[in-house]
Amino acid sequence: MTRDDQPKPAAPLGQPLANNENVNARYFDAWKGYQQLVGSIDTYDLVSRALVGELHGRVVDVGSGGVVNYDCGNIINLVLVDISTEYLNRVVLPAGAVLKTGTAVALPLGDCAHDCLLMQMLVHHLAEGDYRTTRARTQTALREAYRVLKPGGKIVVIESVVNRCFEMAERLSFGLTRRLLRLIGHPMVFQWTPAHLWAFAQEAGFTDIRADGIPRGKWTIFLGRRWPTMLVPVSHCKIVATKPG
Ligand SMILES: C[S@@+](CC[C@H](N)C(=O)[O-])C[C@H]1O[C@@H](n2cnc3c(N)ncnc32)[C@H](O)[C@@H]1O
Repeated sequence: MTRDDQPKPAAPLGQPLANNENVNARYFDAWKGYQQLVGSIDTYDLVSRALVGELHGRVVDVGSGGVVNYDCGNIINLVLVDISTEYLNRVVLPAGAVLKTGTAVALPLGDCAHDCLLMQMLVHHLAEGDYRTTRARTQTALREAYRVLKPGGKIVVIESVVNRCFEMAERLSFGLTRRLLRLIGHPMVFQWTPAHLWAFAQEAGFTDIRADGIPRGKWTIFLGRRWPTMLVPVSHCKIVATKPG
């Protein structure tokens, strides 16, 4: 990465956002202390540890949120993509990082150009409308990741996940949850199981798929707040997969 370059202002979004994307963008634009909160959570230290050695070469971080909790030593070019880029006003990004305003389901990037793509705590925010739409959008995001990676490139998904029973309950209560979350001013979210994420990666064309649990710290973030980990139904996992060369 060119050390003396300053991060450039993000390019404007080229297309209208979907409904819940709009809610997400406004929510994260308004959340002034997000990066500081992340920095104070021990579970996030464990997530950062899980990223050691994973990212190199030309890297895209989709749904960056201005959180660069990974070593940039082996990164020669870093592109941060997000529907919200308000964080630019409050965080210092690595020199030379390029910002792009855009959505994970239609990445503002060319084909086959990147060595690694990271989606960290993004996938549950791809919820939209109903279960089927949410599932389709998540699958699209994985296909988009596949498109922009070089053959031999790697996707790394760090995600909060639930067990099968909880996922079924979320599916059945989708409409109700959406209404309840709207009442507390939170965007709709949908948490998948590791097996779902694994299957979406496979459907997108990835191979050598690995799913690893990430140890839980004492504290985590859930629905926009800091919680003792033992009180929340989510854990974290890392999926790593390769676009065949
Ligand atoms: C929970 S934050 C995660 C931020 C950071 N990656 C982290 O690990 O802390 C989710 C981020 O995803 C972004 N986001 C939500 N929906 C998105 C979408 N459809 N495309 C791209 N980014 C999105 C939000 O604006 C927010 O910055």
